[in-house]
Parts: sequence; structure tokens; C-alpha cells
Amino acid sequence: MKFTNLISPCAAIVVFIAASGAMAAGDIAKGKRLAKKCTPCHTLEEGGKNKLGPNLFGILGSFAASVKGYKYSKAMASSGIIWDEAAFTEFMTRPKKFIKGTKMSFFGLKKSTQRADLLAYFKTLTNTELKPMGMGDAAKGKVAAVNQCKVCHSFDKGGKIVFGPTLFGVYGKAAGAVEGYNYSKALLESGLTWTDANLIEFLANPEQFIKGTKAKFPGVKSAKMRADIIAYLKTLK
Ligand code: HEC
Ligand code: HEC
Repeated sequence: MKFTNLISPCAAIVVFIAASGAMAAGDIAKGKRLAKKCTPCHTLEEGGKNKLGPNLFGILGSFAASVKGYKYSKAMASSGIIWDEAAFTEFMTRPKKFIKGTKMSFFGLKKSTQRADLLAYFKTLTNTELKPMGMGDAAKGKVAAVNQCKVCHSFDKGGKIVFGPTLFGVYGKAAGAVEGYNYSKALLESGLTWTDANLIEFLANPEQFIKGTKAKFPGVKSAKMRADIIAYLKTLK
């Protein structure tokens, strides 16, 4: 945060507001100091070796358990998680609660401000910006979508309404945009746009992500499969 160079009587108030309201915007320098808690077990630099835990350079945006040459627990290897901001934050709250059976022996960070600071720092541990979330395989996604979505959705332009609206062109659009479909109030008022991040969350557990949606399906458990389905949805335009 760059509030330190504000020389005014209001500075203290500004800092106070920033500190209380800015859970989401972490402090990189503080996060870097907190990361000292990780380095007994993790290297953080590009190409760093695996220690007790895997190297964590570029971890945000990656699939869990994808660092080469590291032997993960079964729990981590089969978690199906993508380390997006939400997953990283939850994991850092209580690792063993978020992934039961993980072999990471770290209690977690109690304060949400600490987790936000750590997240801000981890965002810098990458060559590029955040890796694109949509790294799925559209062909596999098509197969999965036919199996899992087709009972309720068509995929064609102007396609008929089954239980749900057609998913043609849904990627990148505002939620609730298919004309003639009678959406739930919850979905209409969600104000969401179907970006990668929102689709990932929605497909993981629709009724948890949009409380009151009438999309009654349990969700797609595997993060890889969600990424594949999203890659397929992107081709429907
Ligand atoms: C006592 C050692 C230890 C400490 C301290 C520790 N970790 Fe870990 N970490 C591990 C181990 C071991 C694994 C592998 C877990 C598994 O396979 O279940 C791991 C896995 C991870 C993963 C998943 C990596 C992947 O490739 O999917 C992340 C993310 C992570 N740690 C972040 C952190 C952060 C951030 C900190 C510091 C706040 C931290 N860890 C502190 C041992 C540790
Ligand atoms: C049991 C039926 C059912 C299944 C299975 C199902 N959906 Fe849906 N889906 C719905 C319904 C109903 C809605 C409308 C929700 C509302 O209005 O709250 C919906 C809405 C959606 C929306 C929002 C559309 C918009 O125009 O905003 C997306 C995206 C979506 N579903 C994707 C999927 C995908 C991808 C799958 C397969 C992995 C899937 N759904 C499986 C019933 C289903």
C-alpha cells in the first residue's frame, strides 16, 4: 500500500479505512515476510528444488499436484483443485480442513488480512500475469458436456429449452441473457458475467455459488473436467 506518502491529517483515517475494508487487496511486502513461514518446506524461486514440499513458483493458476518430480499425497493428487484465489485462500486458512489427508503439516494463517497479504505476494511469483484459467481441452469438454449437461441444456444457437437455457454463446455473457427462458430470480439478480472464474465456481457447485438457482445439479467435481467444459463452452459462438 502506498498510503505512507500521504502527508495529511487524514492519513490516519485513510490507513484505517484501508486496513479494515481492504481484505481483498493484500500488501505484497507483508506477504513476503509471511512467506518465511513457508520456506522451511518450500522454495519460492523459479526452478527452485523441491524440499519437504514442492517448489511454489507460479503455483497460482496451476492445477494442484502438478509440480514435476514431487511425490504428493493421494489426497492432494486427487483433489482436482485449481489454485485460484479462492482455493489458495481456503487452503491457507486450514490446510488439513480444506484437503483432508494432505501431508502439509502447517496449521494455517488465522487472520484473513494475513491470507490476503500472502496471496498478493504469491501473485508476484510468476513470469506472466496469472496463468489463464481456461487451459482445458475443448474436445474432452464436449464429451463431458454431452454426458453431464445435455439432459438439461442444448448447445445450439437458438436451441430448444430443455430444463435449462441453451448454452450457445453463454461464455462471456451476462447471466440470464437467453431470451424466452424463465430464469430464477436468484440467477437474474446475480449480476454475474460468465467468465472463467465464475463458471469454475458455478460448475463446481451451482447451488452454493448462486443460492436459489433452479439449476439443480450437484456440480462437476473435477477441476480438470470443469476446465475442459469451459474450453468447450468457449467454442460455442
Ligand atoms: C512443514 C512443512 C510445510 C510448511 C511450513 C508449508 N508447507 Fe505447503 N506443502 C508442504 C507439503 C509436504 C506439501 C505437499 C502436500 C501433499 O502432497 O499433500 C505442500 C503443498 C503445498 C501447496 C500445494 C502445491 C501443489 O503443487 O499443489 C501449496 C499451495 C502450499 N503448500 C503452500 C504453502 C504456503 C503458502 C506456505 C506458507 C504459508 C506453506 N505451504 C507452508 C509442506 C509445508
Ligand atoms: C438437472 C438439470 C441441469 C443440469 C444437469 C445442468 N444444468 Fe445448467 N442450468 C439448469 C437450469 C434449470 C438453469 C437455469 C438456472 C436459473 O435460472 O437459476 C441452468 C443454468 C446454467 C447456466 C447459466 C445460463 C445463463 O444463461 O445464465 C450455465 C452456464 C449452466 N447452466 C451450465 C451448465 C453446464 C456446463 C452443465 C453441465 C456440466 C449444466 N449446466 C448442467 C439446469 C441444469
